[in-house]
Amino acid sequence: MEYFLDTADINKIKKINEIFPIAGVTTNPSIIAKEKRDFKLIINDIYDIIGKDKILHAQVAGNTADIIIKEVNRLRDLFGENFYTKIPVTPEGIKAMKTLSKDGHKITATGILSSQQIIMAAEAGAEYMAPYINRSDDIGESGIEIVKDAYRILTINKKSEEECLKKYKRIFEPKILGASFKNVRQVHETMLAGAKSVTVSPDVFERFIYHPYTDWSMDKFNSDWEEIYGNKNLLDLL
Ligand code: G3P
Repeated sequence: MEYFLDTADINKIKKINEIFPIAGVTTNPSIIAKEKRDFKLIINDIYDIIGKDKILHAQVAGNTADIIIKEVNRLRDLFGENFYTKIPVTPEGIKAMKTLSKDGHKITATGILSSQQIIMAAEAGAEYMAPYINRSDDIGESGIEIVKDAYRILTINKKSEEECLKKYKRIFEPKILGASFKNVRQVHETMLAGAKSVTVSPDVFERFIYHPYTDWSMDKFNSDWEEIYGNKNLLDLL
């Protein structure tokens, strides 16, 4: 399972990266624009916190295949091998993915609201496909059903390593990267539906392990212990 953090807020990335086993960070144009800073500085600041061995996803701004391809090449030169470019599942985006994946580029397909968009992007060579779960639920569709159907079709049509290498010049497993969550339940159901990765905003992230009864249990352990041993810990007693 891979947990990504969906933000460009440096303080929040610092805090969550220190505690949780995150695989990396995802951003989108709205998330970047919120920071009101230079794009390159934001990306470098995020890398300074998470390290270059973790994955960073950022989105292209161009709307034509031609511009997208140029942007992706520039991004790979600047930020290196562990950088994944998010490309929208528009006709121009799919066209760009098809060309870029033949050259071994690492692609995350984004803006996904249907199972067929997932399948098409995977076929065009995207490694991650990011369905927007809450945005689907918001208009009465089911983000979870989109993931379930796409996962089933991807599993039936799994490519061999040789096929993958021949088509995309590298070996990888296509992964559903659940995105756009408003609560932990949506994330949990997305994982059960077959997503190997999820990207979650800091506020939802911090609720993953929250449970009032866990807090109550810890308070009880602490008060029972203190009654007998005061404020000593095991280092004082062993
Ligand atoms: O990663 C996609 C995500 O940022 C969209 O989330 O909450 O704006 O629907 P949201």
